[in-house]
Amino acid sequence: EKAGYEHFMLKEMYEQPKTVTDTISPRIRKNDIVIEELGMSDEDLLSVRKIHIVACGSAYHAGVTGKYVLEGLARIPVEVDLASEFRYRNPILEDGGMVVVISQSGETADTLAALRESKKRGFKVLGIVNVVGSSIAREADNVMYTWAGPEIAVATTKAYSAQLIALYLLALKLARVRHTVTEREFEGMLEDLGRLPDQIELLLNNKNRIQRFANRYIAAKDVFFIGRGIDYAISMEGSLKLKEISYIHSEAYAAGELKHGTISLIEEGTLVAAVSTQPSLYQKTISNMVEVKSRGAFVLAVTCEGNREIEKAADYVIYIPQTNPFFANSLAIIPLQLFSYYVAVGKGCDVDKPRNLAKSVTVE
Ligand code: F6R
Repeated sequence: EKAGYEHFMLKEMYEQPKTVTDTISPRIRKNDIVIEELGMSDEDLLSVRKIHIVACGSAYHAGVTGKYVLEGLARIPVEVDLASEFRYRNPILEDGGMVVVISQSGETADTLAALRESKKRGFKVLGIVNVVGSSIAREADNVMYTWAGPEIAVATTKAYSAQLIALYLLALKLARVRHTVTEREFEGMLEDLGRLPDQIELLLNNKNRIQRFANRYIAAKDVFFIGRGIDYAISMEGSLKLKEISYIHSEAYAAGELKHGTISLIEEGTLVAAVSTQPSLYQKTISNMVEVKSRGAFVLAVTCEGNREIEKAADYVIYIPQTNPFFANSLAIIPLQLFSYYVAVGKGCDVDKPRNLAKSVTVE
């Protein structure tokens, strides 16, 4: 049931504040994070030397964000692989390695095969899964559920948001046990997590402004999403959302890499969405925005409140509320989801069931 929403995708985007709350709250005890499903003692957590994240599509994009957050907070090296690549590259798994597979459906063939391959080699696998009792949930050694509830729209929104949260919790737990963050930082981040649902709500309520903006790009041919670090991960997800439901060609690029070739595609009026949520990289991304703007691009910026300087290099700015930079993806993705949705609606696309796509990909 769409509960009065025009599409499941819109309904599911609006469920994100609740999804985020439901994924966080069962794992918070007083001022600590308890993830019983991990089945790991503090000693086990201390012995983790490397994390391998394996997934497909949007779940992979969540994993790329996870790499930045886990490395940044817990100082553990992380490798992220597309499941369809991991299986066939004879990956090097060594003692102290932990395999994490991420899947909404829990049925994705390549992800399931990567899980089986890891288990065959004697590694324990943690599944971050949405569908309870799915194949990946059954076969993983331990399962951390993303409590997003059923997701009907083919393009994932709320499950992706829940995957991000699961990864933040894992990173914070590891960071606390390994003392790579101070008590104060840890508590501050718990507070930031707790504020995310209201902040997401605020961004969702901005939908009319984004719809007006999206309507200007219904006829776009190509769109580019650029960002650095975590913002590159957000760009990948923003780009996938747009192309899968609106059929507009889009690409995500690490902002500093554009000038190594792709900038030749920028024409008068090409839309470039620049994501800039990491204060330490504000200036660097502004330089890249100036580069594309001077070649005729129309620059949409998604940045944090307070970064007024970006206005000199942007044609249109969407501000997100302040949060810890490690959690910014959870906010910046909301306007990008809304943008894709309204472009697709404006074009008359079948938003919930885009052509050629299935909700769960059970073929290799
Ligand atoms: C994009 C999308 C897909 C899935 C991918 C993995 O909106 O939904 O890219 O993220 O097919 O699916 P799961 O998470 O079910 O393994």
